Amino acid sequence: MPTGDSNKKPDVPAAASAPGPARRSPRVKGAPAMPSLLNVEQRAAIERTAGDGTTRRPSLDSDAGTEANRGAAGAAKRRGGVVGLDPGAIWDPRSERPPADTPWDVPATSFPRGSALELKLAACVRYAVLAPSSHNTQPWKFRVMRDRVVLLADRTRALPVCDPHDRELTISCGCALQHLLLAMRRFGISPRLSLRAVKGEPDALATVVADDSPRHEASLRSDELRLFEAIAIRRTCRHPFADVPLPAGFADAISAAGTAAGHGHVSIALLGDRLSRERVGNLVAEADMVQFADKRFRRELALWMHRNRSRQPDGIPGYAMGMGELASLVAPLVVRTFDMGKGRAAKDEELARHSPLLAVLSTRRDEPKEWLLTGMALANVLLRAAAEGVAASYLNQPCELDLMREKLARLLGGGAGVGGGTLWPQIVLRLGFGPRVAHTPRRPAEDVIVQ
Ligand SMILES: Cc1cc2nc3c(=O)[nH]c(=O)nc-3n(C[C@H](O)[C@H](O)[C@H](O)COP(=O)(O)O)c2cc1C
Repeated sequence: MPTGDSNKKPDVPAAASAPGPARRSPRVKGAPAMPSLLNVEQRAAIERTAGDGTTRRPSLDSDAGTEANRGAAGAAKRRGGVVGLDPGAIWDPRSERPPADTPWDVPATSFPRGSALELKLAACVRYAVLAPSSHNTQPWKFRVMRDRVVLLADRTRALPVCDPHDRELTISCGCALQHLLLAMRRFGISPRLSLRAVKGEPDALATVVADDSPRHEASLRSDELRLFEAIAIRRTCRHPFADVPLPAGFADAISAAGTAAGHGHVSIALLGDRLSRERVGNLVAEADMVQFADKRFRRELALWMHRNRSRQPDGIPGYAMGMGELASLVAPLVVRTFDMGKGRAAKDEELARHSPLLAVLSTRRDEPKEWLLTGMALANVLLRAAAEGVAASYLNQPCELDLMREKLARLLGGGAGVGGGTLWPQIVLRLGFGPRVAHTPRRPAEDVIVQ
């Protein structure tokens, strides 16, 4: 079992994720948007979304997101049963507005410029809480002090069956940390990141010391600014993806974004060829069968599944899994009661095979520090994809079971993998053009800022 050695962690300068000299914030303000990677065909496919219902603005209290999902599912069916999405139903982030009056609604104009540093740091936490997390558990707390933020794991939100060592919990916290760092630099605050343990605080994962003095004013490069701007539009899309190739240069772009945020500790394998995708799909299917046969796994999953109209600020509402209101009502009971591993396996195998690109994030060691860095890399990959209008979803199941994880490591050319400790797959993503889906709920920053 991984034990962690966080007392020995060296400091990691946050600026390392931004090679080159820091620029001053006026540059950020007027920074030109980085040219999109989409080619003419992809743009045209996206233009066709106008008026087909999939671009309708979703709301957590309505079925709008579900309608969009039904449209996408219908489009997939019309293609003759082959998993894949009609290019006409592709999400266009350019028309995106985060849902009003929710934690997603955080316009940069509402940032308390000119306030005390502590208030500014609390405002940056509003971007951290929008990070993805396994089962949307949001397993984080933030201690905001005069000139620093301590990121704490909230282990009351752990998933002991699916994630017995808090590996994915720590990855989720790493995602929130990367959002926090991007937000700080967006608003001119210079962060210094330390992954050293805090004495007597086993849950403290990272400390960010902040400096907002004009002398050290931080800023984002134009490509990083696009990552920041994607924070409020990113979400997980579990639908089949369209048969539209990804833009040339996209793979390099997400690879660069992830590698920088992982401070060189996280490697990203990109699998675009059919055989590799099929092999990964087979492993995912195998893992699905094992996980769903376990009653405890199903019970844990069901606990975090909620009906579409739920006011629960965490967990996964049915619409995020493509369900209508009625299905979302009964789904937790069905999942808890029946082993649907076979169906899940067949579906995931198809999704893996028909997604244009799979990405596997791996590390050379399997300790909390690497998990945190994986989360930081993951956040950047997802934000870079969202900035390009590319949808992302997860096929992590092989990383959650030792035997399957070892097989995946071998498939990636990592030798003995888990056994020999040469390569530790941490996250499996699939990427492609998908339909618009609704945002999932979040706890507001005030609820996760602690003394
Ligand atoms: C470490 C980690 C593991 C995840 N694993 C899965 C997964 O195996 N399957 C899945 O459908 N989603 C997975 N997710 C996505 C979360 O369920 C999702 O982020 C969460 O429900 C919040 O929704 P959002 O991403 O749309 O904001 C994972 C996310 C993280 C950060």
